[in-house]
Amino acid sequence: MTTPASQLDWNNLGFAYMKLPYRYVARYKDGAWQQGELTEDADFNISECSPCLHYGQQAFEGMKAYRTKDGSLQLFRPDMNAERLQRSARRLLMPPVTTDMFIDAVKAVVKANADYVPPYGSGGTLYLRPLLIGVGDVIGIKPAPEYIFCVFAMPVGNYFKGGLTPTNFLVSTEFDRAAPNGTGAAKVGGNYAASYLPGKLAQERQFSDVVYLDPATHTKIEEVGAANFFGITKDNEFVTPLSPSILPSITKYSLLYLAEHRLGLKAIEGDVPVAELDRFVEAGACGTAAVISPIGGLQIGEDFHVFYSETEVGPVTRRLYEELTGIQFGDVDAPEGWIVKVD
Ligand code: PLP
Ligand code: COI
Repeated sequence: MTTPASQLDWNNLGFAYMKLPYRYVARYKDGAWQQGELTEDADFNISECSPCLHYGQQAFEGMKAYRTKDGSLQLFRPDMNAERLQRSARRLLMPPVTTDMFIDAVKAVVKANADYVPPYGSGGTLYLRPLLIGVGDVIGIKPAPEYIFCVFAMPVGNYFKGGLTPTNFLVSTEFDRAAPNGTGAAKVGGNYAASYLPGKLAQERQFSDVVYLDPATHTKIEEVGAANFFGITKDNEFVTPLSPSILPSITKYSLLYLAEHRLGLKAIEGDVPVAELDRFVEAGACGTAAVISPIGGLQIGEDFHVFYSETEVGPVTRRLYEELTGIQFGDVDAPEGWIVKVD
């Protein structure tokens, strides 16, 4: 049963699945994508032998639709999500979905569920989950004969507790998220299943999430379980890790640009040695779901490292947040091509 939009508490949505009236589904058969369509059916009927179920032949995206002050609906850099899904698909030998097909599907889902895009000012957004899965009868280790691409959506609020309130994170000294030459840069389910156990152990100790180190040397910060990492140095540098095993975050690349061109910081993608955290006066997690979530303190073994404060947001983090969300909600001029109107 879908909850009527009129009964939702827009200011307290959290981050949870909600079955909305419509989703888009397209099938790939006989070497070509078929015409997709909106459907009210939220269930798949697929072979028990589908490679997405056994071998993780699947990839997904995470993006949002925003309601602006005048009530219109817009997307933030959807071409970047389309291109990342194409790269993830190629890595797992799945047929890529073209950028046009991807953006048309996303727009159709937003329009069909427009009542569920939270009002401007509530802080909520419509989270979109494009998903590509390999289906059909394959028991050997090889790609599926058929694929399903779907896009579904749900209204969401904060991913990490408190939104723009600092929380504490735990550096994993026991687990890696991805291998040096593995699938860390692809948005594929296996990376996330691998992060369940470290994530649970961190949450049991009251940490918001895990910060992973580079899997080759375990000396450099890679990323957070569900977001990228950034730090601000005393010398006004915006620094974020550069690594082939982290997810190339659209939020992070947007912040690198905004830090340099709007805030006048020096934007650096490079190494972040865990032994040199003292150079940072602020730090945060960034991503579509996380937006910008300040990192108050980081637990590394027995050491607890506080960046700006465990309770207050640093001034640069706040300015970055205001610039980014201002663009996403249509209150601040966007760099060319970043905003795509839905209606
Ligand atoms: N890193 C991981 C592991 C993620 O799951 C996400 C979320 O998508 C990100 C980083 C941030 O990426 P983006 O800004 O494209 O949402
Ligand atoms: C996102 O930010 O879109 C993510 O994918 C993070 C998480 C919900 C998996």
